[in-house]
Amino acid sequence: MIPLKRRKKEAAAPSDPVTPPVLFPEVCIFLVERRMGAARRGFLTSLAQKKGFSVVQEYSGAVTHVVSEQNSFTDVLSWIERKTGKPVENGKDKESPHILDVSWFTESMSAGKPVPVETRHSLGTLQSGVSKEKDELFTVAPYACQRHTPLTHHNSGITDALEMLGKAAAFQGSEVRSLAFTRAASVLKSLPFKLQSAEEAKNLYFCGGHCQAVIQEILEDGVCHEVEVLKISEQYKCMELLTSIFGVGVRTAERWYKGGVRKLSDLEDMNIKLTPEQKAGIEHYTDLKQPVSLEEAKRVEHFIKDALNRFVSDLTITMTGGFRRGKQQGHDVDFLITHPDEEAIRGVLKKAVDWMDSKGLLLYHHTKVRSHTPAHRRSTHMDGHETCYAIFALPNLPSDSGVSGAAHVDLISPAARTWRAVRVDLVVSSYDEYPFALLGWTGSKLFERELRRFSWNEKKLTLNSHGLYNTEKNCSIPATSEEEIFALLGLQYVPPPYRNA
Ligand code: UTP
Ligand code: MN
Repeated sequence: MIPLKRRKKEAAAPSDPVTPPVLFPEVCIFLVERRMGAARRGFLTSLAQKKGFSVVQEYSGAVTHVVSEQNSFTDVLSWIERKTGKPVENGKDKESPHILDVSWFTESMSAGKPVPVETRHSLGTLQSGVSKEKDELFTVAPYACQRHTPLTHHNSGITDALEMLGKAAAFQGSEVRSLAFTRAASVLKSLPFKLQSAEEAKNLYFCGGHCQAVIQEILEDGVCHEVEVLKISEQYKCMELLTSIFGVGVRTAERWYKGGVRKLSDLEDMNIKLTPEQKAGIEHYTDLKQPVSLEEAKRVEHFIKDALNRFVSDLTITMTGGFRRGKQQGHDVDFLITHPDEEAIRGVLKKAVDWMDSKGLLLYHHTKVRSHTPAHRRSTHMDGHETCYAIFALPNLPSDSGVSGAAHVDLISPAARTWRAVRVDLVVSSYDEYPFALLGWTGSKLFERELRRFSWNEKKLTLNSHGLYNTEKNCSIPATSEEEIFALLGLQYVPPPYRNA
């Protein structure tokens, strides 16, 4: 939900009436529209032309660089053949065109000149008129923020297994191994085809021996032995149970497990000291464990907007998190709140929260005030926004229960309750930080992590949900939209539905 004024600016006409001069006559780019779409193709065309590249609309023998996104080598060749009525040929007196992944294009735009074609850019080569997919060929970019990761993909059996191994590693305190599994799963989520063999994954980033063994087992046996062992492991099951309590992280869960906790009732029986957050998490455990549907999220949104609008009528309130990425369900509902007038947002969250509390709409809430320490602005991991972590009592729809309205039975029978508990996060950001907060709170967690890793490793810039900083020059780099942040990082824009890394 980008304010209208900005949206207009971003949707600028793709083709300029006057084509800027060509600075690199040796390069002639053809962008493959398949999977890229006409709008994005238009945008990339004008971007390249502004930088002095020659981009043609129709494929011809003059093309030197064919650039495509999310297609395999054969996809590209057959698509061009269908469009032009003849196959892409190995030129007789000239070299055949490079068939490239969009990474070559991005890097060239970033460099302001055509970068040399390297193996990792190439989808395959045409040799003596015969198309040959090199090493099964498909490669994806190394950082998740350079790829498109849709919600549904072709390798979920494998990625579920890898993610479970990643979780188990995290439960054992091994962040590094956990991240390796998570990254491998994420790479496979962005593959535009179903893997047929472990061999096909050998050129992919983060898909080393262990990952390939998992792939092979799943393709051959349908299951992965290591995962099957986890599923019946008492430690894994127990850590999964404990970490799914609101307010309980891996460290706490591990401490409890080592102290002998095996089930929720043990916490009370063993007199374990709980934070107010954890107490609320246990009290509403069954409700919170049940995924929030999109329909429920929209009803929550209605209540939250109503509450906030009572105090300031023209706030921008955006549902972020997984729902913004197109998920149909989530573990909570996240909202980001802003307003151009700094005065308007001051205190509005507290007022709305107090009002909802007085109406019995909140079962728990805890507000973290805005942090003013400059450390938040420079650190990659800290988030200093004013944030309310709450458990919302979402009233049932009239049809949900035969006894709706019978509030007095709430404590007697959970089945007859007139509400269900839903985790809600409310975040307030200043207007100038809004694009960064929006990007930071849309996720996925791995996508954010990769964006920050890319910013630092490749651009020596620090990115967080407050801004983008050049730490060497000690200055911040402003942006007015998510699109602009990607552009400042030299990245192609990745729309939210493709940030499901
Ligand atoms: P969530 O944990 O809500 O994940 O964080 P999600 O993607 O919406 O998944 P489900 O559907 O609820 O399970 C959403 C985003 O907010 C950021 C996370 O990094 C993530 O990108 N976030 C979350 C923060 O920046 N700070 C926090 O304290 C919590
Ligand atoms: Mn969420």
